[in-house]
Amino acid sequence: MAPLLRPEGWALLEALPPYTGPDAAMALGERLRAEGAEPQLVAAAMTQSRLRAKGEAKFGPFAAGMLFTAEGLEQATRLQVAAHHARRFRDAGCTRVADLGCGIGGDAMALASLGLGVLAVDRDEATAAVATVNLRHWPEAQVHRADVLDVVAELGRDGSVDGAWLDPARRNASGRRVLDPHHASPPWSAVLDVARRVPATGVKLAPGVPRDVAAGSGLAAEVQWVSVDGDVVEAACWFGPLARPGRAATALVLRSAEHGGTATLVDDEGLEVPPAIGSPDGVGAYLYDPDGAVVRSGLVGQVAALVGGSLLDPSIAYVTSDRLVTTPLARALAVEEVWPFGLKALRTRLRDRGVGAVEVLKRGSAVDVEQLRRSLRLEGPRQATLVLTRVAGRQHVLLCRPVTTPSAPTPPRPSPDRDQNPGPETAP
Ligand SMILES: C[S@@+](CC[C@H](N)C(=O)[O-])C[C@H]1O[C@@H](n2cnc3c(N)ncnc32)[C@H](O)[C@@H]1O
Repeated sequence: MAPLLRPEGWALLEALPPYTGPDAAMALGERLRAEGAEPQLVAAAMTQSRLRAKGEAKFGPFAAGMLFTAEGLEQATRLQVAAHHARRFRDAGCTRVADLGCGIGGDAMALASLGLGVLAVDRDEATAAVATVNLRHWPEAQVHRADVLDVVAELGRDGSVDGAWLDPARRNASGRRVLDPHHASPPWSAVLDVARRVPATGVKLAPGVPRDVAAGSGLAAEVQWVSVDGDVVEAACWFGPLARPGRAATALVLRSAEHGGTATLVDDEGLEVPPAIGSPDGVGAYLYDPDGAVVRSGLVGQVAALVGGSLLDPSIAYVTSDRLVTTPLARALAVEEVWPFGLKALRTRLRDRGVGAVEVLKRGSAVDVEQLRRSLRLEGPRQATLVLTRVAGRQHVLLCRPVTTPSAPTPPRPSPDRDQNPGPETAP
């Protein structure tokens, strides 16, 4: 990183022409070195150029003016989500927010761009240097290299900040993901310490945290699960004036510009326990696969209410209805047939119907999808979606086809098979 912070390094980075592929990279590197650029500088600039290209997914066109470390980019909050974090602080009346463990500055940039003062802190030297560059457009943002644990005691004491944001690192020394906030860095105990000193505190947690993560802390909190284009990217826990009164678990369902650019807030207002169908005959014309943020926040009842539907099973987050409702909160599938689960019969039925390729969704089913796929030995021209799940207490298969409407959400992953029980988190 250091060479790029020198004027000649920055100038080289800014002057790099666009290139793609290893051959073009090699040719460009050779040319720059032949023109007299230091090899170390060329290597650093080209690495950065690759990171900027990758950073576009999270920062759009802003990435072209930013610096990244590979790890910092991977951990950074995408701007679309950071903007929602920042709005919470602004709407709660905060004026200067401490970003404790700021990384390359994804959240800090969003805070600063709303006109809030920012005290950004990171203990890693290179990361703090990168954050300083990325925040250069906002004079009200300062970056300090320090350990959060050393600055907590000062927070709130002199009134220099009236809000605090934490996005604890969720990888351990060997690079493995840490799901338990007690083992993140800074740990959960430090987060609560901050929240007690600075009431307007927010923290980003792994999506797998329990809904009552803040129970026992003595602090009222709202936990909000956020999804982007169907992928659950975080659970943010908001304390004090940042938590909306009476809201314990909420969902924010975001669609990127290419998927409609919508933001839908779901909360538990008027939430009722959704009814469940009593038998397979109760399966309606449509199956709704609720967004992961809605499932994790326990708000599937809102989808059921929206589509006038019922659960397939009291403990499974699939909703069925005869009505087709287009909503970003759930993907709709048209149900063609419903069968009790049985491998032999399933193989015969799919063959009879000419189904040669299937997308498999499952909830509440222990079936190994790859093994199933091999055993089915499908042949035929048709594509279908199979939903393996419990219906009224028994294992069933629903033969479905996707409903394509202009604003219907697309499936979140390119992989055709998904076990939809809330499980490991996805990348932030
Ligand atoms: C997940 S990243 C933050 C990403 C950031 N929100 C963004 O959008 O770019 C966590 C950061 O916390 C920093 N960190 C972890 N423990 C820390 C501590 N005790 N004191 C200061 N920084 C810490 C790490 O160096 C890392 O850069």
